[in-house]
Amino acid sequence: MALRNIVTKEDPLLYKTSREVENFNIRLQQLLDDMKETLIKSGGVGLAAPQVGVLRRAALVIETNVQYGEEEPIIEFINPVIIETEGVQEGTEGCLSAPGEYGIVKRPARVKARAQNRYGAWFEYEGVGLTARCMCHEFDHLDGHLFLEKCDRMLTKEEIRESSEE
Ligand code: CO
Repeated sequence: MALRNIVTKEDPLLYKTSREVENFNIRLQQLLDDMKETLIKSGGVGLAAPQVGVLRRAALVIETNVQYGEEEPIIEFINPVIIETEGVQEGTEGCLSAPGEYGIVKRPARVKARAQNRYGAWFEYEGVGLTARCMCHEFDHLDGHLFLEKCDRMLTKEEIRESSEE
């Protein structure tokens, strides 16, 4: 495994539409393993392939809704499609490609997606709360969209400082 460089919002790659993954080969496994290592190191909750400069429809989301003390699994979504949403949540969002910037974004409270795993098998996954938010955010990256386009408003420096002191 190797760390990959995370591109930031100045990079035109982040505004392009990623292509479907067609080959579930060793290169894909390598990409996913590298993304996993990069995500863990970064301290984020999700990472999409275009953020490491690869325009393919692959994204990782850390499932944070686990019992206390349990390990948080990293879910690998290849060619994901959202097939169901329910409700709405409003909350603060950030992005590894926009360090230091946070904004208030409305997202569905619950999201169900259909996707392929690293071997090409289809599965369905349901996320609530932060996981639902993260799935929407990461899948948006695959269509060239950043959360910054969807913010109702950005947090002020003051608010960011207050929330980091909590
Ligand atoms: Co992001």
